[in-house]
Amino acid sequence: MHARFTQGLASYQSKSIFHPDSHTISYTTLSRFPPVKLLAASERKRILVTGGAGFVGSHLVDRLMLLGHEVTVIDNFFTGSKTTISHWIGHPNFEIVRHDVVEPFMIECDREGSQYCQSQVF
Ligand SMILES: NC(=O)c1ccc[n+]([C@@H]2O[C@H](COP(=O)([O-])OP(=O)(O)OC[C@H]3O[C@@H](n4cnc5c(N)ncnc54)[C@H](O)[C@@H]3O)[C@@H](O)[C@H]2O)c1
Repeated sequence: MHARFTQGLASYQSKSIFHPDSHTISYTTLSRFPPVKLLAASERKRILVTGGAGFVGSHLVDRLMLLGHEVTVIDNFFTGSKTTISHWIGHPNFEIVRHDVVEPFMIECDREGSQYCQSQVF
């Protein structure tokens, strides 16, 4: 899964260091992300991906991010996992919200992408 990011995956993920003396843990988030296309503001879309942490959704997220769009993921993580999109967490073009889509959610966006309309961007 996400083969293009598995090489050197460590550079895209956060690291944790356990300090046994104080019994605490510190996290380091590396700021290197997969390179995304630089789009003009007029071309860049704000896109909402429901179920974006799932198998199909996370590949849709990868495609949209690499194309240079701003992507918001809504997922309740029932079957999906943050690990499928962890390589984008912290990127300025990326947001993630834990939410169940059966409940109302207000957000401004240009397009809504779900597992049912990925054919429009692939
Ligand atoms: N995987 C495939 O090859 C494939 C092929 C054709 C069709 N499909 C269909 O596409 C859909 C998605 O498949 P998938 O493999 O990505 O499944 P998945 O379980 O990996 O992804 C679904 C995502 O939606 C999230 N989700 C579920 N209910 C939610 C809710 N109420 N609110 C917010 N988030 C919610 C889950 O947590 C998960 O992240 C399914 O309907 C599946 O039948 C999948």
